[in-house]
Order: sequence, then C-alpha cells, then structure tokens
Amino acid sequence: MKQELKLTINGQLYDLFVKPKTLLVEVIRRELGLTGTKRACESGSCGACTVILNGMAVKSCSVLALQADGGQVQTIEGLATGTKFHPVQEAFMDEGAFQCGFCTPGMLMSAKALLDENPKPTKQQIKEAIDGNVCRCTGYNSIVRAITSVVNGKYEERK
Ligand code: FES
Ligand code: FES
Repeated sequence: MKQELKLTINGQLYDLFVKPKTLLVEVIRRELGLTGTKRACESGSCGACTVILNGMAVKSCSVLALQADGGQVQTIEGLATGTKFHPVQEAFMDEGAFQCGFCTPGMLMSAKALLDENPKPTKQQIKEAIDGNVCRCTGYNSIVRAITSVVNGKYEERK
C-alpha cells in the first residue's frame, strides 16, 4: 500500500505516494524525471546515484524514499543557478575532470556536499569525500585538481 511522501527537491516541494520499498533514486528518476542522477550498480558501490539529502551526500539507491520523508534533496539539476554553473561544475570543465560523464553528476554532488561542510578541505579530505564515487575514465587526478582549484579560490569571484 502506498504512503504519502513529502520531499523538497531542488527547492520545490513534492507531495507523492510511494510504496514502502520504493528507493529514493526511483522517485528522483522515474517519478520526477530527474535523470541527471545516474543509476548503475544499485548496491551502494559506485556513487553514480549520489545526491545531497539534508546536507549530506548519500547514495540514493541505498535510501528508501520514505526514509527521506520531509527532507531536502539536491540533485545535479539543482546545482547551477539559472544559467550560471556552480563553481565545481566550472572547475570540472576547466580541468577536463570527466570523459564519458557517467560518474560526473554523483561526483559533483559529493564535491558540493564536502565544500558546503568544509570550504577548505585538505587534498586527503577531498580524496576521502569522493572515495565512494567510482570513475573508470579519468584516473581521478583531474577530479581532485578541479575540486582543489575551487578550494584555492579560483572561482571565488564567479560565485
Ligand atoms: S547506483 Fe547507487 S551506488 Fe551505484
Ligand atoms: S568520466 Fe567516465 S566514469 Fe567518470
């Protein structure tokens, strides 16, 4: 039997009815059509489905939608402000921090959650923040470099 679910996603309140076993990623992708959040391993291993829930990066394939009831969710679609990219998006483009791009939405959300909590992380903290996000293309160096360039204030004036 379906239960009511109220979620604020990218600043918009949604009032939905979902089954108890419906995953957060299913609501985001299937119910709301926000397909920027990717779905791959479905077992919490790859990080492609990472979104920010109440300020924390979470793997949305590992969270029941009803566990997020009343919560604030941010997905990749909510990262830019209008036509203005978020600094981490700009940095990823400048540093060539993606190739196929499949991991990129989840990677960006992990980076954003880190920088929201700690604007001046160390290189080690950056690596730890993205260690649940698998990228088979880049070798990670360009990703760490991109996040580091935001930390170093390269995009300060563009915020
Ligand atoms: S699809 Fe969620 S961690 Fe891989
Ligand atoms: S850019 Fe292809 S998986 Fe990361």
